[in-house]
Amino acid sequence: MRDAQPSTIFLSDYSVPDFLIDSTTLRFELGEASSLVCSVLALRRNPDAASQDAPLQLHGTELELVSLSIDGRQLDDSEWSQSGEQLSIANVPASFSLCCETRLRPQDNTSLEGLYKSSGMFCTQCEAEGFRKITYYLDRPDVMSVFTVEIIADQSRYPVLLSNGNLIETESLADGIHKTVWHDPFPKPAYLFALVAGKLAVVEDQFLTTSGRSVDLKIYVDEKDLDKCDHAMLSLKNAMRWDEDVYGREYDLDIFNIVAVDDFNMGAMENKSLNIFNTSCVLAKQETTTDAGFQRVEGVVAHEYFHNWSGNRVTCRDWFQLSLKEGFTVFRDSEFSSDMGSPTVKRVEDVTLLRTAQFAEDAGPMAHPIRPDSFIEISNFYTVTIYEKGSEVVRMIHTLLGPELFRKGSDLYFDRHDGQAVTCEDFVLAMEDASGIDLKQFRHWYSQAGTPRLHVSGTYDEQAQTYTLVVKQSCPSTPGQTEKAPFHIPLAVALIGEAGQLALQLTDAAANIESPDNTELVLNVTEPEQRFVFANIKEEPVPSLLRGFSAPVKLDFDYSGAQLLRLMRSDSDGFCRWDASQQLGLVEIKRAITALAAGQQVSPDSEYVSACRELLANTSLDAAMVALMLQLPSEAYLAEIIHPVDVHGIHHAREALRKALATALSDEFSACYSRCESDEAYAPDAAQIARRSLKNTALSYLMLLDDAQSIALAVRQYESSSNMTDRLAALTYLVNSTAAYKAEALLRFYQQWQHEPLVINQWFQVQAMCRLPGTLEVVQGLMSHPAFDIRNPNKVRALIGAFCGQNGVNFHREDGAGYRFLADQVLLLNRSNPQIASRLLVPLTKWRKYLPSAQQLMCSELQRVLADPELSSDVYEVVSKSLQ
Ligand code: PHE
Ligand code: ZN
Repeated sequence: MRDAQPSTIFLSDYSVPDFLIDSTTLRFELGEASSLVCSVLALRRNPDAASQDAPLQLHGTELELVSLSIDGRQLDDSEWSQSGEQLSIANVPASFSLCCETRLRPQDNTSLEGLYKSSGMFCTQCEAEGFRKITYYLDRPDVMSVFTVEIIADQSRYPVLLSNGNLIETESLADGIHKTVWHDPFPKPAYLFALVAGKLAVVEDQFLTTSGRSVDLKIYVDEKDLDKCDHAMLSLKNAMRWDEDVYGREYDLDIFNIVAVDDFNMGAMENKSLNIFNTSCVLAKQETTTDAGFQRVEGVVAHEYFHNWSGNRVTCRDWFQLSLKEGFTVFRDSEFSSDMGSPTVKRVEDVTLLRTAQFAEDAGPMAHPIRPDSFIEISNFYTVTIYEKGSEVVRMIHTLLGPELFRKGSDLYFDRHDGQAVTCEDFVLAMEDASGIDLKQFRHWYSQAGTPRLHVSGTYDEQAQTYTLVVKQSCPSTPGQTEKAPFHIPLAVALIGEAGQLALQLTDAAANIESPDNTELVLNVTEPEQRFVFANIKEEPVPSLLRGFSAPVKLDFDYSGAQLLRLMRSDSDGFCRWDASQQLGLVEIKRAITALAAGQQVSPDSEYVSACRELLANTSLDAAMVALMLQLPSEAYLAEIIHPVDVHGIHHAREALRKALATALSDEFSACYSRCESDEAYAPDAAQIARRSLKNTALSYLMLLDDAQSIALAVRQYESSSNMTDRLAALTYLVNSTAAYKAEALLRFYQQWQHEPLVINQWFQVQAMCRLPGTLEVVQGLMSHPAFDIRNPNKVRALIGAFCGQNGVNFHREDGAGYRFLADQVLLLNRSNPQIASRLLVPLTKWRKYLPSAQQLMCSELQRVLADPELSSDVYEVVSKSLQ
């Protein structure tokens, strides 16, 4: 175990900074052996600080300090001291200029934080606390400064030199060196600083804002990727227009740059006017990118662009407020994607992510509220809770206020706090002030972790013609929080009768929100137990609950099979309709588990099979919805529902049920497949994406028949597709089948695409996710493939991440070899890239969910990781908390 344990930081310890930085001037001399950074900071004491004679304390990590001076006078070693990440200088004046030189070796920086090199180019990543790896600074988001940046580098190696804001000077110097100077007029925290220097090609376009300003849009990529930028550019322009239309937010500079880099820990970064993207989130073309990839590009480009207001113009006071910018921005980007494509499909996808990954996090050892109150390493808190649950919390405010008052609230928030670093409380207050709606109890969503549970029961009183819903709420305890106060939960409901939705009339009209046609209500659930009585109900209805997934909760209602079938066939709410299909699927899987355990055959209920048959013939319903409804609940979702988790039992039951459905409906799946075939020109639009999704869902079932005809179909699709969606789907099914052709397909795929790293990542991933036995050995073999590189996070995620996180049966091999493999990789990556190491570790931390035999094996691997004396704070926090 490490000797000094990293310390915990608490929200309750927040205090305003002792100093402010009015301006920051940086000079970068970029070189091959080392790079020199010279910073000049205009510092002064913060009049609001508690102490007016505190020493100046700056953050700095792994820096080589070359020189330090105050107002032009060089400091000698006795005038400053260093401990841990702090550099202290005592007895500084009330206002002064600090000049600091540091020497860096970006080429050796494998953490991909601070200044580093990726494929020969220099780039930076400063969120959350990476700026302190560049120079000594007040590296906290409530210190905002105006930046001027001079970049000096070899002209032929680094013809493009970029930073935030406007280009104010370019100059050619002696010896083939050139220089550019950038100035960003908007004060910003250091985490939004960025620099790029490299040999980059550019795609350019323009956007005219509502007020008539023309903005230059530039996407910088490697020359060979110039043909993969159209979709990102289109998405950017759509996002800019959407933010004007929906939020009244206009872009505020004359230039907006995006740069694509190969090596990046996350998806992308919203640095002011210089967004840096993981290539996987910006490049797209039909031959190399799947439909899901296209949608990801659209979503991430919009997300980063939206941060210009929700994040940059109004930023976070401290990192406990991370969800202030992330939750809000995810909500904004998901509404955008929903407007650009199919709203119901987008909603189902978001809910699926939440109910698998986020619910699991909320039930695990790292559970935290969307505004955590402590952390060891902030990098560990870029989580599905902060992002996705944070977005659901903003969505609930949107539901409670309605679209007009929500817009009033967001206008007030942006207006009131423009140029400030604020808190989640400021956001809620703006929403309250603008709407007059009381969100006092609602605030528990910010401070309490865990997924609330709603137990709902319904009774029909024929005599009184009333229908009564009794709603009980509870929330399980989470680390550090045993008692939870009741939440304010918006519960959207409708009552479905024989001929559709019934008019709703509550006997006690307790401030609930009505839909325009009076057949949907949002119930304000605020108490541990509450009863809602609907009057004038002339028949026993089926309740449609949590419509649109109106709150991030688990809901139990004891539906009969017939009731679920009615919802699945006719609910007008797309989410509930889909969810009914999933609940029916869950019942069938549970029956299959029982059947297999008793050594019996799996045979699905005939009503369920008929409903699936009907779905397959339904050409009026969105094809994407049909596809989603035909897909059984995922193994990851099942692992959230069935406890303890018997990975193998669940897998075999689910597969047996899938095979039974394929057998019973083989003609229908074939017909559906043929119907969905098309030779129109590829476009990543909702209609085509839907059709491909249904076609490939049908193919995946047909492949379970394991007959020559289906294999031939997959081979034909694999060979003849002109887009990656169909090609990769076919390859996936072949790899998981007994087809002899699969080895050849994999080889040919590699040969064809070896010069496209993003395609090779998909190739790694397909193999890592293969459900057949022996996959661990395949993955281990691929780790020494020439195309694999453990320093590249995309490759690590495609191979190791996909295997450990998305291949349950193989990761949970009964001999524990999967666990051992993961622990080995984490220990290795802990040294080079701690952020990636700690993220990779997550599947092991969920050990408490599994059968005792698995628990023991998982724990002993966690112990082995914890015993490493050189654990990073990232890995230390995750592993130690998971063993507590
Ligand atoms: N702030 C980025 C986003 O959500 C994510 C990110 C965090 C990127 C930390 C890099 C490092 O858009
Ligand atoms: Zn973000």
